[in-house]
Amino acid sequence: MNEPFAKKLWLDGRIADWAEGAVHLSAHVLHYGSSVFEGIRCYQVRGRPRIFRLREHLERLRVSAAIYRMETGHATDRLAQACRDVVKANNFPACYLRPLVYRGEGAMGVNGLKSKVHTAILAWEWGAYLGPDALEKGVDVGVSSWRRLAPDTMPSQAKAGGNYLSSQLIKMEAVLAGFHEGIALDQYGLVSEGSGENVFTVKDQVLRTPPGGSSILQGVTRDCVIRIARDEGFEVREESFPREALYAADEIFCCGTAAEITPVRSVDRIPIGGGKRGPVTTRVQNRFLGIVHGDLDDKWGWLDREG
Ligand SMILES: Cc1ncc(COP(=O)(O)O)c(C=O)c1O
Repeated sequence: MNEPFAKKLWLDGRIADWAEGAVHLSAHVLHYGSSVFEGIRCYQVRGRPRIFRLREHLERLRVSAAIYRMETGHATDRLAQACRDVVKANNFPACYLRPLVYRGEGAMGVNGLKSKVHTAILAWEWGAYLGPDALEKGVDVGVSSWRRLAPDTMPSQAKAGGNYLSSQLIKMEAVLAGFHEGIALDQYGLVSEGSGENVFTVKDQVLRTPPGGSSILQGVTRDCVIRIARDEGFEVREESFPREALYAADEIFCCGTAAEITPVRSVDRIPIGGGKRGPVTTRVQNRFLGIVHGDLDDKWGWLDREG
């Protein structure tokens, strides 16, 4: 077995050793992608681990599980406490949390209803997702040849394991072409999102991001950006826009739990805003990072206080 990412995890109601997280080859999830999950950051604030927007992530997990008719049997409050317990059991000062609901053993057919539902929470230490310089210097992205899932195929607003086959195609194509990340279009050819991030453009001081109907995962970080930008006095529009609006933008950034707020310095090798982090991105990013690290007022109550 590879080096464990952590000493302990949470499985079906109790803290367990990392090795107890092994799954049998007949598990439904391995064959049919039947899992839903979350990605949550826990930041170190004044020496204490504080989980970021825990409620919102667990609410999205609840909705994802409901869409796929998975009954976890664990109330959201219970899972919130389990997340805190995993951080504590591993003694992590800061980490990334991965609640996961999946269909295990039971039956080999596609019908998921016959397989037992398990709930696990993993944690590991994770730094900057798109590379150590990404937050400051920005990343190079390419528009993907792969489209995001059309809304009547698989629901993009469920954070489901199977959806990440689409993300993998986008990400691997981008990396093999020399980009850090790919941005995919939706079924209408309008901008959707990155393989694991939402996208914002800035043009003439107005922020734009594709709406829920553009095959996006409605990101928790996206919501942070919208609130912060409006609070800073910027206009923010959730509206569809075409690919060329990316090339015409003054600034672009992508955002997500893993990527936080990462400037995009080029799209398809066309420099954006002089190829460096722009002033609006810097302002939103500084405010976001200031809040998550406890240096600025957490006016929306995003850091868990019960940790
Ligand atoms: C496909 C996709 N879009 C957007 C996001 C951003 O969502 P969040 O900010 O909630 O992490 C993620 C990350 O979870 C993602 O995987």
